[in-house]
Amino acid sequence: MLARLVLGLVILDAAMTAPTPEVINYDSETYDAILDDLDNLYNYENIPVRQAEVKRVTMMPSGSREFPTPAPQSEEVLEEEEEEEEEESTPRLIDGSSSQEPEFTGALGPHTDEDFPTCLLCTCISTTVYCDDHELDAIPPLPRNTAYFYSRFNRIKKINRNDFASLNDLKRIDLTSNLISEIDEDAFRKLPQLQELVLRDNKIRQLPELPATLTFIDVSNNRLGRKGIKQEAFKDMYDLRHLYLTDNNLDHIPLPLPENLRALHLQNNNILEMHEDTFCNVKNLTYIRKALEDIRLDGNPINLSRTPQAYMCLPRLPIGSLV
Ligand SMILES: *[C@@H]1O[C@H](CO)[C@@H](O)[C@H](O)[C@H]1NC(C)=O
Ligand SMILES: *[C@@H]1O[C@H](CO)[C@@H](O)[C@H](O)[C@H]1NC(C)=O
Repeated sequence: MLARLVLGLVILDAAMTAPTPEVINYDSETYDAILDDLDNLYNYENIPVRQAEVKRVTMMPSGSREFPTPAPQSEEVLEEEEEEEEEESTPRLIDGSSSQEPEFTGALGPHTDEDFPTCLLCTCISTTVYCDDHELDAIPPLPRNTAYFYSRFNRIKKINRNDFASLNDLKRIDLTSNLISEIDEDAFRKLPQLQELVLRDNKIRQLPELPATLTFIDVSNNRLGRKGIKQEAFKDMYDLRHLYLTDNNLDHIPLPLPENLRALHLQNNNILEMHEDTFCNVKNLTYIRKALEDIRLDGNPINLSRTPQAYMCLPRLPIGSLV
């Protein structure tokens, strides 16, 4: 019994730490020679273009080596681990933890959730609801106190305006790998605490209005085209750190970029050009966008050499074609 309890706690611990952005390794690690390149950049006018190009060509391989592109793979592995753990011990997990977690003693304790129809089908642990891989074709009703909602690898086609209505504690929604092609304009807008929205690997053509509280957005591998993202969609998101829009059909960089943005991934889109002041302010050379250290533009038909002034304020050069 004691062994079971310990096992349960270990698993609970693993499950509780799961809903963080670090689960998928999005982060591009630093690459060397950044300071060198920054120096070159600031002296751009003094060095022949050809020399600058050679320098960057040597830099790029080390950059791309450090991006573990097959992220979906690692995610699947994690997926399997999570499921095994849950299947083995879900009922005990909930009982065993109620004496440990003060959170469980409230009116919306485990028994409320356990009786909740969705928690019979899915797995509810504290304020996290896991509905991965259940052949769902719609968002199920969720307990009022849900903070983290996972419904990956299902067959959801549409997100309706009331699917998340009144879920005022919702912090993370992960709907990776569904068949979503339509999202109601109001589906996410009124969620007061939503921080992380993961919609990768779907068929989304148009993003609805999003709450300004978001810190992490991943809509990679969808069908966002020219009109897929509203004008100034991310402008007021002061806390947005990560914006992943890889593998879509975007033909421009969504502007303006919020000041605290750290990572902007746009590889494998259809971006042909950008302006000198997409990232920086050509009229004010003292302006520095120090947060934005990870820009990916590789796999676009853009020639980054055409806008040499555009990177002056950045801590690192964007990754992409410079020839
Ligand atoms: C230039 O940018 C700096 C840093 O953002 C700012 O403090 C300064 O007021 C700006 N100057 C002008 C003329 O806009
Ligand atoms: C990219 O732009 C640079 C600078 O304008 C130019 O010299 C170079 O020929 C361009 N490369 C291609 C492939 O168009």
